[in-house]
Amino acid sequence: MSFEAARLAQLKKQGLLRKLKLRNRDLINFSTNNYLNLSSHPLVKERAIKAVRNWGAGAGGSRLMTGNLSLHQELERKLAELTGMESALIFGSGFLTNLGVLTALADRDDVIFSDRLNHASLVDGAITSRAEVRRYRHCDVKHLADLVRSSGATGKKIIVTDSVFSMDGDIAPLLDIHELAIAENCLLVVDEAHAIGVFGSGGGVCRSLAVRPDVITGTLSKALGGYGGFASCSASLRSFFVNKSRSFIYTTGLPPASIGAALGALEVIDSSADMGRVLLENAAFFRNRLIEMGFDTCRSASQIIPVVAGENSSAVSFAEYLEEAGILAIAIRPPTVPEGAARLRFSLTLGHSRKNIDMAISAMKKLKWK
Ligand SMILES: Cc1ncc(COP(=O)(O)O)c(C=O)c1O
Repeated sequence: MSFEAARLAQLKKQGLLRKLKLRNRDLINFSTNNYLNLSSHPLVKERAIKAVRNWGAGAGGSRLMTGNLSLHQELERKLAELTGMESALIFGSGFLTNLGVLTALADRDDVIFSDRLNHASLVDGAITSRAEVRRYRHCDVKHLADLVRSSGATGKKIIVTDSVFSMDGDIAPLLDIHELAIAENCLLVVDEAHAIGVFGSGGGVCRSLAVRPDVITGTLSKALGGYGGFASCSASLRSFFVNKSRSFIYTTGLPPASIGAALGALEVIDSSADMGRVLLENAAFFRNRLIEMGFDTCRSASQIIPVVAGENSSAVSFAEYLEEAGILAIAIRPPTVPEGAARLRFSLTLGHSRKNIDMAISAMKKLKWK
């Protein structure tokens, strides 16, 4: 047996085998990150098409060579404004942003303090930077403070956290983390991938709390409905990333269609500032019904609502049952979530009608009785 066949057989036995699926049935999608339903918004599509007409299909080179378009810089100005920071820099994706920011910021002598539930791209960025990585208990500021104070770091100390956690839907205690970062002279990097467009009139959780970290990272691929990533920061950090982030330097600039789509999405958000608020109200309604039914939704306080099943096989069979009922809610298993905490991950979007939400609620009621 080849090494990969043996490894795949092992994953299958553990209930952890992943497969790419094409679904032929119409299902109500409760697993998309297209939170504001902007991916198919007419203005977003029109802006993407217009950008292709004017600029072509690709940037044609890296930003530092020949691929720097005025379109990129226009979007960067708008993203800086949205997040309330001095400037912004676009990367190829949210993953590449986190990789580029952390590998540029952190060196061998530095220590990165990372929430245990941070997204894989922050984990990989931290490891790749070669800094020492200390993981603190999820959202536990006291544990974080203990680690920071006892670190004996000779170089920079960098605290890294998601704002909205992708698999739990809860929110980091950013006011306390920011206070600690200032008191202990740490840099603070906050990943707002799931908050941009939704919290703080679209500007994210930091914006809503008036917290200004050193770097906010984000993506154009979730609430904004397209593709790409960005970091918002000071003008000097932006120049630093332009010079030091390998995932920015050695790759082609984001294609015009993606930039046009993001500009269109920002236009829509700008003209209807309460989209995020409506989404969060719908999510709270759905979450409260699940809690009343006795489901464990962790500490979700966002549009992301987990329902913890425990065993991998239970999560998978719950997801299969829901799919039969016309509801798509993907089972999330380790290593994406901790061992024994397999779950369904629901995400509410503005594409869900009240009828859709009621259908999901009644399917979950039957699931409880199964
Ligand atoms: C918290 C977080 N950060 C970053 C990313 C990566 O974003 P992108 O899909 O744009 O690469 C994700 C996406 O899954 C995420 O959940």
